[in-house]
Amino acid sequence: MDEQWLLNEARAYVKKQLETDSSGHDWWHIERVTRLARRIAMEEGADVFVCELAALLHDIADEKLNPSMEAGLRKVRDWLELHRVQADAAAHVMQIISTISFKGGHNPPVATKEAQVVQDADRLDAIGAMGIARTFAYAGWKGDLMYDPGLPPRTEMTRESYRHGKSTAVNHFYEKLLKLKNLMNTDSGRRIAESRHSFMERYLDQFYEEWEGRDAK
Ligand code: ADP
Ligand code: NI
Repeated sequence: MDEQWLLNEARAYVKKQLETDSSGHDWWHIERVTRLARRIAMEEGADVFVCELAALLHDIADEKLNPSMEAGLRKVRDWLELHRVQADAAAHVMQIISTISFKGGHNPPVATKEAQVVQDADRLDAIGAMGIARTFAYAGWKGDLMYDPGLPPRTEMTRESYRHGKSTAVNHFYEKLLKLKNLMNTDSGRRIAESRHSFMERYLDQFYEEWEGRDAK
């Protein structure tokens, strides 16, 4: 099986599927995650082909874009069968995609090095400058405020606040973004996460300074 051909086919398929998405799962997210997955796979000595293919297909099964997670996963399985991806690689890709999505950080650790690589790459795109941009874009799409000083930073979304739809872009940093650094699986992922994390901390400091009009004093 020609791996390069398969990756190109997957790229074309995913591009078509996600072209019109505005919820933060757009094609460019996939492109960035795939690039990072490739880099981390090489640094960590993981199977680069499996990591790239799983990264390309990782959001096709997302619950937000499908009637259910199962329906989404079936779509991925169908694609792998149609393209005659080798059985063990296909099973590995399916296993990666079904286990990596963030569930409040309470899901069991992922099983293989390749799954660790793809999960790190996906999480890295949720932090740093990219993560900040995606968070504000998502909040706008949802109709949330960017910040509400009356809403103290929360690290968990409570049922009450969820019911009232009271989240803000800035609050999402505390709910999720600032936690991701400690959830990295690989050394490469951790190194990149450290740098992106400290950028977010500087960003928040500056954000509050500007909010109060105290900056550059
Ligand atoms: P992922 O691609 O990691 O599965 P999600 O589907 O949870 O991420 O969300 C897509 C993007 O939107 C991510 O960058 C995420 O951090 C951000 N996001 C998710 N929920 C919120 C929220 N309530 N407010 C702001 N940003 C959010
Ligand atoms: Ni993703």
